[in-house]
Amino acid sequence: MDMADKSAMQMDIALQVVVLGVALGLMWVLWGGGVPRALARMTGPSRTKIESRAHFVKGAQLLARSRSAKPSLSESLAGEAADEAERAIALNSTDAACHILKGLALERQGHMVAALNSLDTALSPRVVKSLAKTEQSDALFKRAEIRLGGDAKKRHVDAAIADLEAAVALNEKNEKALCLLGTCYEKKGMNVEARRAFQEALKAEPQLIEAKAGLERLS
Ligand SMILES: *[C@@H]1O[C@H](CO)[C@@H](O)[C@H](O)[C@H]1NC(C)=O
Repeated sequence: MDMADKSAMQMDIALQVVVLGVALGLMWVLWGGGVPRALARMTGPSRTKIESRAHFVKGAQLLARSRSAKPSLSESLAGEAADEAERAIALNSTDAACHILKGLALERQGHMVAALNSLDTALSPRVVKSLAKTEQSDALFKRAEIRLGGDAKKRHVDAAIADLEAAVALNEKNEKALCLLGTCYEKKGMNVEARRAFQEALKAEPQLIEAKAGLERLS
């Protein structure tokens, strides 16, 4: 598994955790009987919330399936995941998790500019409030990763560094962010900062091969 796949998987797990709380609530509603009835009786905000969450959960499941599907199926499943995210957003545009889901699904289809736009929306002041600090940190890491995925122009590296520094400020144990930050500093010839970032990454996760390799290169 390469690094991108691995971090995609970790992001996926983070997302699944977000989903789980919602899913358990939904399951109670869905399997406890009486969904259509309960839903039909509900009106206004609570109904919108449940419908939006249902699209989100379905989208997250489709994205997970897309990741394990064979290439021929993977892209269309990611497309369906993006559609579900879109429906969730139409019902509630201030839920950051839905924008992140959409971004991940678009990334999976290779639509990097659109993916970046979704992450930008998720991280915009009005929307980002709905995320916990560690989730915000993960979203910033993801945006940095997408920025660096394209051509590694200098301004992209600078923007990625800004995201990663913010990610670490929100969660000093975000070892993926620390490690990528080290790599970015290294690219800019900021070896002192790079070494420090790799060391911090190893403090958070002693087995991190990327960070060990980084320190090796800089020694
Ligand atoms: C929209 O999502 C946010 C964040 O999860 C939540 O706080 C808010 O209550 C939701 N609004 C509606 C109408 O569902």
